[in-house]
Amino acid sequence: MDQNIEKKIDELLAKMTVAEKVGQLNQQGNRDRSKEEIFADIRAGKIGSFILSGMGSWHYDCDGAKANRAFLNEAQKVALEESRLGIPLIFGHDVIHGHHVMFPDPLAMAAGFNPDMVEKSYRCIAEEAANDGVHWSFSPMVDMSHDPRWGRCVEGPGEDPCLGSAMAAAAVRGFQGDDLSKRDSIGACAKHYVGYGAAEGGRDYHKGEISDHTLRNLYLPNFRAAVEAGCVTLMNAFNDIAGQPMASNRYLLTDVLRGEMGFEGYVVSDDYAIVQLIKHGVAEDGADAARLALNAGVDMDMRDNVYPENLEKCVEDGTVSMEVLDEAVRRVLRVKFRLGIFDHPYIECVPVDYDAHKKVARAMADETVVLLKNNGILPLSKDTYVGVMGHMQDDKDLGLGCWACDYNRDWVKTFGDAMREISPERVAYHSGSYVDVTCAFARWFDVAVVCIGQSPYMTGESANVTSLELAEDQKALIETVSRLGKKMIAVVRSGRPLALQSVEHYFDAIIWGWHNGTEGACSLAAALYGDLNPSGKLSMSLPRVTGQVPIYYNQTSSCRDNEGYYGDGKIMNYRDSLGSPLYPFGYGLSYTTFAFSDLHAVRDSISLDEIMNGGAFEIKVKVKNTGDREGKEVAQCYIHDCVARLTRPVREMKGFNKQSYGPGEEKEITFRLTAKELGYWDDHRQYLVEPGKFKVWVGNSSYAKDEITIEITK
Ligand code: NOJ
Repeated sequence: MDQNIEKKIDELLAKMTVAEKVGQLNQQGNRDRSKEEIFADIRAGKIGSFILSGMGSWHYDCDGAKANRAFLNEAQKVALEESRLGIPLIFGHDVIHGHHVMFPDPLAMAAGFNPDMVEKSYRCIAEEAANDGVHWSFSPMVDMSHDPRWGRCVEGPGEDPCLGSAMAAAAVRGFQGDDLSKRDSIGACAKHYVGYGAAEGGRDYHKGEISDHTLRNLYLPNFRAAVEAGCVTLMNAFNDIAGQPMASNRYLLTDVLRGEMGFEGYVVSDDYAIVQLIKHGVAEDGADAARLALNAGVDMDMRDNVYPENLEKCVEDGTVSMEVLDEAVRRVLRVKFRLGIFDHPYIECVPVDYDAHKKVARAMADETVVLLKNNGILPLSKDTYVGVMGHMQDDKDLGLGCWACDYNRDWVKTFGDAMREISPERVAYHSGSYVDVTCAFARWFDVAVVCIGQSPYMTGESANVTSLELAEDQKALIETVSRLGKKMIAVVRSGRPLALQSVEHYFDAIIWGWHNGTEGACSLAAALYGDLNPSGKLSMSLPRVTGQVPIYYNQTSSCRDNEGYYGDGKIMNYRDSLGSPLYPFGYGLSYTTFAFSDLHAVRDSISLDEIMNGGAFEIKVKVKNTGDREGKEVAQCYIHDCVARLTRPVREMKGFNKQSYGPGEEKEITFRLTAKELGYWDDHRQYLVEPGKFKVWVGNSSYAKDEITIEITK
């Protein structure tokens, strides 16, 4: 903690009235209030922050960056020069996976398995947002999800906490830079704390049944990683856990977050999450909701007016103590100081090199392309006559993805544009009605590239589905094209895993392309022609059919053989489907081949004492590019704790390493397994590292086969 800052906060707190303190906890963003009303409140010290998302075009929209800057500076001037204490406002915004240049959706970025690239991406995003006056982004979303029906799985890092933690930390580093007070650093906000992705039935806002054990082993690690990376704010989730809504969950917001994790920033409520305590049925009215939320540890009220309307009274009647109020204000002011807003309150606009950012967006999208199937047809020769089909080829929204707020639509390339750029002469397009592919058109080409998937409007907040199948008209197109007797390639663009079993057999090759940003379509076209060698790996399992959901690789051991995910035995499976996913977590092919060899532990047994004192197993493996072209491979290290006090996952990823390999090149990769990787949280909230054997696998997916055993001795 910076004592200079704490001193300045003490001085301010000593001067503040209760109303001014409450003002710092009030984030405004109501569309129905006029500018004059809002400015009057700023002048009276009643507003501490603005949420820019969804405020309407009078002050902020995607085409009006100039006007917006003027408005934000004007509002800031009122706060600084016309309010009694001159405390600056903090402007927050949903800058989720891009600002003007869009980057791939977070689930896609995770599939890149490349934290450095993610950090670089968020650096660009921060620079653009800061330039438009954003101090603070409501991102990264770090919710784990095992259910692709849930529309918001697209916003997070997928099903695995090792990958999720790496993504969380990378995004925080990218947003916040190496010095929080620099003009192009913006505050990050890890959300939604916590357990939001466990929503039953994949229905957004629904509760999830989460044991303490699962909470700590699966849902909390990404938040811990974000906090350890220095994330200055968190947003509480809408859901309840064990009957306690997150906006009033003191145990998780205070005891765990502040007490155990040492978080020093502030927590903002999700949109209207405080007033919704009334809907949850745990608060009687606004005053009750305000009391519960602030005492639990929600510091800032996101535009639901519960704090401004009730907190003063709560302090008066003693249901909220002055200490609790002061502590919340302190946290908000601390972040304002740390972000340098007091020193640089106005927008300092500099020219942004958007072309350079587009290149980074392209490089990020390149990392995310997952080659799911290839019977040898790919890469295509540029002499091939290609027919591109399906209206998705023309759809810019597939590049934008969900939660795209301030994008520049003109910059987005469609898949059709990208194909035309590479092969203008030998590609023809058919994007009319799905079933009227005419014979005349069909005679012209040798290979059909069918663009399928889901529009971004099917994913995101409150955009849940009951079926992961392709839409019927897409299935009809595939069926029609298949009757032409041509080779078929699928380019799938979707924000969530889809169940492709019913159509997979039609295709000679399948490329999974996500909603992958302004430049993403170019990555897909480049991958088709081999200008890019795909290197993405699935960040969520792809089921065969919807009924397999939830399906995830890191399931715990059960009373029967664990055939559900890893094999297709009859015992734990379905009468009408195999149990395994169509494509597992961590899976993705390349145009070259890789061999893993010589997997070993430098020492295969280490005492518990040594492990608890910082000791580590060093796991080494050789990875060789056995093909004749350069390619990237992700070496993935999985463990299984053979005998533990509680059931442990049949596999858990504990490290990954993405490298580029020239033809014939071999590298030795090392993974370190320490107490952090080998232990787990038990059912009494204790972190346990137990003596005993662990299986270790290293390979290029969660199906990794090369196995050794290590042992922690007593
Ligand atoms: C509600 C969403 O749940 C959250 O993710 C978002 O940041 C806020 N609205 C603000 O737009």
